Amino acid sequence: MRIEIPRECERLGAVQIYGLQKVYELAGGRDFGNAEPSHSDVIRRISSEAIYERQKDMAIVVPVKNERLKLIEGVLVGIPHPCQIIVVSNSSRAPVDRFKIEKDAIQNFCKFTNKRVMVVHQKDPGVAKAIELAGYTELLGEDGLVRSGKAEGMIMGTLLAKFLDNKYIGFVDSDNYFPGAVHEYVQEYAAGFEMFDSKNTFVRISWHSKPKVMESSLFFAKWGRSSVHSNRTLNRLLSYFSGYETEVVKTGNAGEHALTLDLALSIEYAAGYAVETHHYINLLEMYGGMLPQSDEGNEIRDNVTICQIESRNPHLHESKGDEHVEDMIDASLSVIYHSPLCPELLKREIAEERAQRMSLAEAEGPAKVKVYSNLRNLNLDTFLEHCDAAFSSKTEALSLV
Ligand code: GDD
Ligand code: MG
Repeated sequence: MRIEIPRECERLGAVQIYGLQKVYELAGGRDFGNAEPSHSDVIRRISSEAIYERQKDMAIVVPVKNERLKLIEGVLVGIPHPCQIIVVSNSSRAPVDRFKIEKDAIQNFCKFTNKRVMVVHQKDPGVAKAIELAGYTELLGEDGLVRSGKAEGMIMGTLLAKFLDNKYIGFVDSDNYFPGAVHEYVQEYAAGFEMFDSKNTFVRISWHSKPKVMESSLFFAKWGRSSVHSNRTLNRLLSYFSGYETEVVKTGNAGEHALTLDLALSIEYAAGYAVETHHYINLLEMYGGMLPQSDEGNEIRDNVTICQIESRNPHLHESKGDEHVEDMIDASLSVIYHSPLCPELLKREIAEERAQRMSLAEAEGPAKVKVYSNLRNLNLDTFLEHCDAAFSSKTEALSLV
């Protein structure tokens, strides 16, 4: 891959947010040793060997909820072979057991590809028990099982990535129509870790475009409807603290993102679709140096690097309706609005814009979203031990392909 170095960087305390980086070539060729051809100071060439080295320690979590099998299979086709795949499915089990159908199809797919794939249901009792014994009961519902929601599936995937001993974790949605786009995202995750080789690196993808049919021809939209809101509001927050207007954030609610497992285990996840925006907020809260820190916060912290890469493939996924988009906007803005970082002025703006967007008579902030505490509150050794037991008992819902 050939990728430009970032042009700008916003620094807040230990958090560095780099500007969007363009990809100039999807495959940069193999390692040439010292005889590096056509290398310039502003373009980094990342060799296929370097990408392989990162991907062999990378788990890709694929959250699934009642998606079409053909879509899920296409996503698996796109994930590069060296990665460990973890499918966390919350698909229905009755009246038709969709999860069983997914598992069978993936198992069959693995016969042809020999890929490393773990398939687990979000409501798996064995994993839930391991989480409970490890003391992280906030993730469990009244039935003692992991709660529903994309973020909840992501937390489960993060723990399983640790169980399988990975160093990096990436997420790709299962409703993507283009295997080539999925492949590109995972290559870019590896390129990001290669460019910013630190304990706390976060790679976030901004799609180049999203194709839509408008008046019977194709239109390639640049920004999704909810990303416009989360990016603009996050940038306003940054501007408030730095005193300089900025547009550095382009990946406020990027569903396609990857991070070092160390970092994934030490940040908070907000419920449902607020998860990605909250990652930004929580990093700023914990490492931005703007809030008074607890005793725990007095320890010297490593820097956190957020790297944003602009992918080249168009992003086309299943359309899930207007109401869903509105809920996503509200969830994203909620974590900014309710953060102790959010100044009164920005709160007012969020509430007023919301009233306009939703035609409300009065300006009112979005409802608070549940936020899970970071996974340092889970006893990892206990979790790993009991997870081992859950796997070896080979329960029906848990399968290692
Ligand atoms: N395991 C699990 N559990 N997966 C779920 C659940 C759940 O409860 N709910 C949804 N998913 C899966 C879906 O099957 C899909 O693969 C993925 O999570 C994303 O859900 P979508 O419903 O397709 O979300 P979206 O396309 O509107 O939004 C995506 O892009 C946004 C950025 O524009 C998501 O990735 C958002 O999180 C992201 O902010
Ligand atoms: Mg989608």
